[in-house]
Amino acid sequence: MKKESWSSQLGVILAVTGSAVGLGNFLRFPGQAAIYGGVSFMIPYFVSFLLIGLPLAWTEWALGRYGGHRGFHSVPGILRSVTGKRWTAYVGSLGIMVPMLIFMYYVLLESWCLVYAVKYLHGSMHLGDSGHFQAFFANLIGIDSNGAIFSGGLFDGRIVAFFICFLVNYYLIYRGISRGIEAFCKWAMPLLILFSFIILARVLTLGNPTGLEGQSVQDGLAYVWNPIRPGQTVWTALANPEAWLAAAGHVFFSLSLGMGIIITYTSYMKNDDDIALSCLTAAAGNGFCEVVLASMMVVPAAVMFLGPQFMTVENLGSSFTIGFQALPQVFDRMPLGQMFGFFFFALLFLAAITSSVSILQPPIAFLEESFGIGRHRSVAILGVISLLGASFIGYFSKGLTALDTVDFWIANFFLFIVAGMQVFVFAWVMGIDKGLEELRRGAHIRIPGAMKILIKYVAPIYLTVVFTAWVWKNLPDRWHQICSDGTVQLSIGFILLIALCCLAVTVYAVKRWENNNR
Ligand code: PHE
Repeated sequence: MKKESWSSQLGVILAVTGSAVGLGNFLRFPGQAAIYGGVSFMIPYFVSFLLIGLPLAWTEWALGRYGGHRGFHSVPGILRSVTGKRWTAYVGSLGIMVPMLIFMYYVLLESWCLVYAVKYLHGSMHLGDSGHFQAFFANLIGIDSNGAIFSGGLFDGRIVAFFICFLVNYYLIYRGISRGIEAFCKWAMPLLILFSFIILARVLTLGNPTGLEGQSVQDGLAYVWNPIRPGQTVWTALANPEAWLAAAGHVFFSLSLGMGIIITYTSYMKNDDDIALSCLTAAAGNGFCEVVLASMMVVPAAVMFLGPQFMTVENLGSSFTIGFQALPQVFDRMPLGQMFGFFFFALLFLAAITSSVSILQPPIAFLEESFGIGRHRSVAILGVISLLGASFIGYFSKGLTALDTVDFWIANFFLFIVAGMQVFVFAWVMGIDKGLEELRRGAHIRIPGAMKILIKYVAPIYLTVVFTAWVWKNLPDRWHQICSDGTVQLSIGFILLIALCCLAVTVYAVKRWENNNR
């Protein structure tokens, strides 16, 4: 089988950045930053970035390149090749389940962005008051009843948008690492940045569009950036445990950690390509998109047009409310709003595609190396599975229960587990010295000696504390939901089914590798 690889160092950096920059950057981050405000969120965000974000990203890059050199490209294969132990492959099968399941609902969100972008391009997104925007979105996602999105038949706009997204993803992944993913990211990423600057320039030059008190551009920026809110001191601002939890969770999701993505992407690098600086560049690029670009446009625009009274936790806490209901009202009131609306949703769409192709690659690599089959056959198998899975999540749309359940357990709970497992293998099984040596090989920057302590002790402890606090806070409610809601039970059953399939294939794969002396 032909060995795949990136065609350039820039390619892998752009692909990892493309994976990291997604809806999380443009919708989730501004919302969280506005809820907790200034210092209360930004400091925990930077601390989490330094203590777990960057160290964990470095471990994923190092493990990936190491495993790739030994001929493995998926979490189970790589962990087993690093440790020489079967059980690490079995646990590593979680690193296949996570991306597979995330794709099944992320592609739905992507199709919503596409619908919005097309409607703006067409100039038909004038919906009048806020109620109409809510109704439009509710109808699009079928929130009122199960099966609603299928009610209009196969040629309904929602289904067509879904298929377009699905096919774009599969087309890119079918073309492969350098001709598909890399080639796409090389033009999608600059375009995305260009669109952001266009919107940013618009928002920052609006002055005070409504003429109302407290709704100028400065007021909008202050909503996210004012270091201390009235009545707070630096210390009370920093003493909110929820902000620390939210920031750590966000750093994880945003950098695409614990999803098996980075480890797979970097396994296609050359053995002495730099990873230290490349990883830092990708992480910084991701931070730039959310800290600088997104926080200067999304929330300020909402404050300027909808007023500070709109800035409630309910409205800001949900990416769906900000993105699909609040911002359309903003564009509705903005001069040339249809055009800027198009740029914004096209930007979201591009950001989403570069993320969703990245979650397809780990399961593709896994199928290839488990069964010894080629890319095209793996793509076909995964295509059928993800189509069924996305239909399942799309069908159980009432209250978005299935989507929410999968998102909670997979994109939060298991993300921590997979990331924890990787850092454990890197620091304790492979051994921190050997790990750091791997990280330093070919490095264009010096990795500080303190990284040893950070990766071996600080990151795992920080991770455990955050995870425990998060479980403590969320699990009781979630458990109650599992006991009382049929759709939640079904969704959990679905997750278990996928987990079992991944495990079964891993068991088979390990046997095959052992027989082949790999
Ligand atoms: N980092 C992505 C984001 O911010 C998260 C993600 C990556 C989601 C890959 C899906 C696939 O949106």
